[in-house]
Amino acid sequence: MGHLPDAPPVARLHYRVMSSIESSETFQIPLEAAEAYEEAFVPAFFAQWAPVLCDAAGVTAGQNVLDVACGTGIVARTAADLVGAPNVVGVDLNEAMLTVARRVRPDIDWRQGDAGALPLPDLAFDAVLCQMALMFFPERATALREMGRVATAGGTVAVLVPSALDVQPAYGPLVDMAARHAGGQARSLLSTYFACGDLDELRSLFASTGLRVTATRGHSGKARFPSVDALVATEVESTPLRERISDDVYDRIRRDAHEVLAPFTAADGTLEAPFECHVVSANRP
Ligand SMILES: C[S@@+](CC[C@H](N)C(=O)[O-])C[C@H]1O[C@@H](n2cnc3c(N)ncnc32)[C@H](O)[C@@H]1O
Repeated sequence: MGHLPDAPPVARLHYRVMSSIESSETFQIPLEAAEAYEEAFVPAFFAQWAPVLCDAAGVTAGQNVLDVACGTGIVARTAADLVGAPNVVGVDLNEAMLTVARRVRPDIDWRQGDAGALPLPDLAFDAVLCQMALMFFPERATALREMGRVATAGGTVAVLVPSALDVQPAYGPLVDMAARHAGGQARSLLSTYFACGDLDELRSLFASTGLRVTATRGHSGKARFPSVDALVATEVESTPLRERISDDVYDRIRRDAHEVLAPFTAADGTLEAPFECHVVSANRP
């Protein structure tokens, strides 16, 4: 698994992906950003979770599988290796992500669409998967209801999201430190990724949509960066936080990050930050 490339392009890319989520009706990322996502983020971060999610959903040969908010399609590709490409559909809001997905795996059915109004029929998929995206949807309950609608009776909806900040060994202390320097705005802006991380709230959210949670599991992975500075740049510069703080405050955050992240930094300066996730599996009663 590779390292993320140097910070500035990664930060810009990250911001574009996040922005696309925040203004989902209109925003399309450029193709070069989607290509960079596939080249940098997928091997260094997103690929590690796809087998975990497929396993949690019990994806097996002969099933029809949907990957919701598929991005460049790492989950759909992993599922296709298990069930065959003709049985897999990937849906994402961003055409550029889908263009890359089509280039990498032309044999999978890739469709543009909103998780809140899936362009797919009822009862069509044995497994509906969603990796690292639920926290970005403006209407999470609507999206889960849609996932339940397109699942077969007895089918599985499985969602993978980052756990809450208070159980993240690297990101929790990092955000605490940034909040000490830059206040509550730092906490709220750096917390988006972890917004669905409370398991009790997640269970309630599923229950409110008529989905019955059948299993939850935690999974520990890694976020890999070439340096502490690269991690800080990615996380801070990918949000409006950087524009709202002075150079002096940013320098202090960068300086203290070396201390906070020291337990996860190797002798050559590279960083492997632990990253905790929840996987929730559900079906329709
Ligand atoms: C962090 S990426 C994760 C992509 C992919 N699941 C993976 O693991 O690589 C989040 C994805 O959610 C997509 N997305 C955001 N809001 C969406 C929505 N309302 N409907 C469909 N896709 C959406 C974005 O376009 C982006 O590709």
